[in-house]
Amino acid sequence: MTSINSNYLNLQGSYLFSEIAKRRTKFIQDNPQAEIISLGIGDVTRGLPEAVTKAMHAAVDELAVPGSFRGYGPEQGYDFLIQAIIENDYKARGVDIAANEVFVSDGSKCDVGNIQEIFSQDAVVAVQDPVYPVYVDTNVMAGRSGSFNSELGRYENIVYLDCTAENGFKPSLPDRKVDLIYLCYPNNPTGMTLTKDELKVWVDYARENNCLILFDSAYESFITEADVPHSIYEVEGAREVAIEFRSFSKTAGFTGVRCAYTVVPRELKGLDKDGNSVVINDLWNRRHTTKFNGVSYVTQRGAEAIYSPEGKEQIRGLVDYYMTNAGIIRDGLASLGLDVFGGVNAPYIWLKTPKGLDSWAFFDKLLSEANIVGTPGVGFGRSGQGYFRLTAFGSRENTEKAVERIRGLSL
Ligand code: MLT
Repeated sequence: MTSINSNYLNLQGSYLFSEIAKRRTKFIQDNPQAEIISLGIGDVTRGLPEAVTKAMHAAVDELAVPGSFRGYGPEQGYDFLIQAIIENDYKARGVDIAANEVFVSDGSKCDVGNIQEIFSQDAVVAVQDPVYPVYVDTNVMAGRSGSFNSELGRYENIVYLDCTAENGFKPSLPDRKVDLIYLCYPNNPTGMTLTKDELKVWVDYARENNCLILFDSAYESFITEADVPHSIYEVEGAREVAIEFRSFSKTAGFTGVRCAYTVVPRELKGLDKDGNSVVINDLWNRRHTTKFNGVSYVTQRGAEAIYSPEGKEQIRGLVDYYMTNAGIIRDGLASLGLDVFGGVNAPYIWLKTPKGLDSWAFFDKLLSEANIVGTPGVGFGRSGQGYFRLTAFGSRENTEKAVERIRGLSL
């Protein structure tokens, strides 16, 4: 028989959101009359903005005729989209990004999962805890994690940066040498953010300690407070130490359509095994062109439309809609005396489970007594134990109903 990649056997349980879906399905099978409200996985529920669908329809028509038909596009993305990204997401904020530093892809999950491939097998990885599970699991698959210590609930070679209520969910710098640091802001799952000065501490640290920050900024468009940076490159020196991941999924309803991008500045350098300096952008470009054939033309035209005046207004409407939901959940739960975090610059509300229930016990209680699906905090790591995440991506009606149902529970 063929040998397998045994690192896969080192993965713990199933992927968090698959496990939740499994439990939800089982509950519905046992309780077919239950009217479930899903505030679990961060999947959007509003339709695509009209500017996007119009652009996509027009693009489909172009593809129907030989004169304007397009086959394979540039793997890195069409220039029209890359220019729109550079102008609107960066230049407008005083950040210069060159066209060959932007890589359009089919999702940030894929990009944050794949990026580790271009780094050495013995690179030491630091993650926040709680953490988006993809960062950890992809490094486990690559054989970088060491064994799982079930007593500690952690992999031996991964450096965990605890984010707890005590430190305001803002991790301390690593206490040992690391090579790669995954940071996610606005944070999934806690919904918390760093100010520019706080982010600068990380950039300075990475510059002084020769490490690279993998900055997941998928929730950037939900930022409402002025002192929260939208891009890590707003911090001086970040171009030398950071890769940034951005997504259209949550911003523009693209969770099913699939489009995102990653910025890899040309300044970023790594060392090969002989100690020679290598441009990381070249490696990512090589990987991207070898393993990926680009996002569809129709999708990229849809993404471009987000940056049109109508598109911008419609996106603002979507974000406001979800952030109003976030406020409803946040205020509703706080009025019940629960400790709630996030929901101000992010579509996630992170709450301390009542009565000291563990995260999965609260999941079961919420599902069985209120027919609400949420996400157990411990699914994001040990520091998430005793916490729970709700998303603001439901409909207004379901969001209000969910808060009313929770109000009716004995907590
Ligand atoms: C989440 O719920 O954390 C996200 O939807 C997961 C994702 O974007 O892959």
